[in-house]
Amino acid sequence: MRSVAQRQHLASGQDSDVFIRSDGLLVKRTRTGRDLRREAEMMSYLSGFGIPVPRVHEATEAELVMQYVPGPRMSEEIGRKPWLAGGLGEDLADLHHRLDVIPAPDFLSGEGDLLHLDLHPGNVVLGPEGPVVLDWACATKGDRRLDVALSWVSLAVAHLAPVKKLTRWRFLRSFMANVDPRAKDAIPEAARIRLARHDRDPRERAALEKLMDRRPH
Ligand SMILES: Nc1ncnc2c1ncn2[C@@H]1O[C@H](COP(=O)(O)OP(=O)(O)O)[C@@H](O)[C@H]1O
Ligand SMILES: [Mg+2]
Repeated sequence: MRSVAQRQHLASGQDSDVFIRSDGLLVKRTRTGRDLRREAEMMSYLSGFGIPVPRVHEATEAELVMQYVPGPRMSEEIGRKPWLAGGLGEDLADLHHRLDVIPAPDFLSGEGDLLHLDLHPGNVVLGPEGPVVLDWACATKGDRRLDVALSWVSLAVAHLAPVKKLTRWRFLRSFMANVDPRAKDAIPEAARIRLARHDRDPRERAALEKLMDRRPH
């Protein structure tokens, strides 16, 4: 069912436009022609394992209808309440630990454990019942340390105003102190994946290229 009645634009992400319907449900529409049924399937699977994701209502190729989770994104919360950065870094690490124990579903191709591959603070909503993970479009299989490294890389290369850099550092330090320290070895690979994914601004590309050359220690 494709209701065109009453929608209010909420956000536009990297690949999609998001609306709130008059019944309070959220509609995610792809701009790239990606089949959203895969993301819906992934979210329903994760709900079954107790991972906090928005509840899926229905999905077609072009539209995913789901529960709207009210609350700031973790990225907004870090920006507005910098004194919470350390605790929020722990919360992001905790979400990774919750994923560590979920078996990768058979419908994902490849081998290894389940990876979100875009688990940065912009894809986490701090809802009334706790953090909820959005945007499962990139989910795949692989080494969990790569998933952690991608979280680190996404935030580390973002261009920020100087005053925000100390907050970012506090967030990332606390995040890394609470995950597998060997995730650092996956940073060059994570940078390669992120670079391949989107056209990014030149400053970000340069930062990613530098990380790709980093030797594991
Ligand atoms: N279920 C939801 N509840 C609340 N906000 C959401 C929800 N789904 C998406 N959003 C908002 O829409 C933005 C874009 O959605 P997202 O799934 O991340 O799409 P994209 O793949 O384009 O990044 C999110 O960053 C968030 O602000
Ligand atoms: Mg997103």
